[in-house]
Amino acid sequence: MARASSVFVCSACGTESAKWHGQCPGCGAWNTLAEEARAPAPGARGGGGGRPRAAAAKPVPLADVRAPRIPRLTTGIGELDRILGGGLVPGSLVLLGGSPGIGKSTLTSMALGNLEGAGRRTLYVSGEESAAQIRLRAERLAGAALQVPVLAETDLDTVLATLDAERPEVCVVDSVQTLVAGDLTGAAGSVGQVREVADRITRLAKARGIAVLLVGHVTKEGSLAGPRVLEHLVDCVLQFEGERERTYRTLRALKNRFGSTNDVGVFEMKQGGLVEVADASARFVGEATRAPGSVVLAAMEGSRPLLVEVQALVSPSELVPPRRVANGIDRNRLALVLAVLGRHGGVAVGSADVFVNVAGGVRIDEPGADLAVALAVASAQRGVALGAGAPVACFGEIGLTGELRSVAHPDRRLAEAAKFGLRPVIAPRDSAGAEAQTLRQALRLAMPAATGRRAKAA
Ligand SMILES: Nc1ncnc2c1ncn2[C@@H]1O[C@H](COP(=O)(O)OP(=O)(O)OP(=O)(O)O)[C@@H](O)[C@H]1O
Ligand SMILES: [Mg+2]
Repeated sequence: MARASSVFVCSACGTESAKWHGQCPGCGAWNTLAEEARAPAPGARGGGGGRPRAAAAKPVPLADVRAPRIPRLTTGIGELDRILGGGLVPGSLVLLGGSPGIGKSTLTSMALGNLEGAGRRTLYVSGEESAAQIRLRAERLAGAALQVPVLAETDLDTVLATLDAERPEVCVVDSVQTLVAGDLTGAAGSVGQVREVADRITRLAKARGIAVLLVGHVTKEGSLAGPRVLEHLVDCVLQFEGERERTYRTLRALKNRFGSTNDVGVFEMKQGGLVEVADASARFVGEATRAPGSVVLAAMEGSRPLLVEVQALVSPSELVPPRRVANGIDRNRLALVLAVLGRHGGVAVGSADVFVNVAGGVRIDEPGADLAVALAVASAQRGVALGAGAPVACFGEIGLTGELRSVAHPDRRLAEAAKFGLRPVIAPRDSAGAEAQTLRQALRLAMPAATGRRAKAA
């Protein structure tokens, strides 16, 4: 039952109800009602007749608005600052999402340590770990991580009161799902609680000019736990990705009110914390194997070109249907590429298991990866290494009729490949690479010997 000051709201249709229902009385959706604190609606006590109670305010032309240029707070972590658009904006809210153990607490502790070392007032609020656990982590981090004041607390009111008293310039709340607003009945991490916690922290942060980094867990499906409304509430949503067992992690902005969402940062988890991988392409190309089933993809991570190795393994299978395993690329995209390879490329893998992996645990979400997947699979299936000794780079989208389609920024991709001596780059027409119009032509360019032999045999 909701308290007098709260109401249950459906996250799907917005229907309000004084009581909790398993099924929304408005739209019929299940488990969508969440408790929210609510001020009485204007005019609820009658007599208002729809007339507004407050006095009218005067809108101001934008040109007359004073907008002082407030310098950003540099976290000292180059990749993080770049993704934020040049550092933290005072008074802004940043939501940092990521799966368990990915390094969210490490990244935020390092940032606060650097800020503290630079003479900024900071505060680390943790509802997840005890102060002793946080200290243990800080001990293995460089810089002033041990100087950061810490508050191990889950009660929202206490946290807000402390923030108000301490007035830090930057605060980390780890995590938004562990704080509890005492006036709501829901458990910590429930939709209503997360929304209330974020809302009240936002209001205080804006009023006091505190930059807040909210840490949030990611659900199994990959979205930030809690309502999507959290993403609307904050100024910037960062996603920390990668696989826990691998060392590489990528940080990208899904939303940024103060910068672009096009950039990605690459980190490596080491004993001393997260280390920026400034030249990720060099690292990935250096590690490329040049064996059958390996190709270098000239990918774009937003506005940044990145060379990554795509690997494939094709092995005969007894399973029906055979296995299709994709790491770092979309599974549906792999199915599409395999279908086109079979129909238009003469590479049939119908009775084989196919595994495709983007090396280093990087995730590539762009159609330009199609050609790399196709070449890696074709090379693995035929057991022939691509190119003559040197790794082959490529990019391009594959259409359903077997054509190669252009993708964004061919010039930047080519320039990045050239930096590492990868020439020629197999790419769609009009991209100034070793151009191919169709998947078949691309296969011929990448494996002249194998396709030649086949042609002769046929
Ligand atoms: N001594 C160490 N050397 C290298 N890596 C370490 C060391 N100690 C911990 N790690 C890495 O740090 C990771 C945990 O980092 P962190 O606690 O920052 O993650 P998190 O995202 O905050 O996790 P959670 O969701 O549990 O809060 C571990 O998965 C491990 O890979
Ligand atoms: Mg943590």
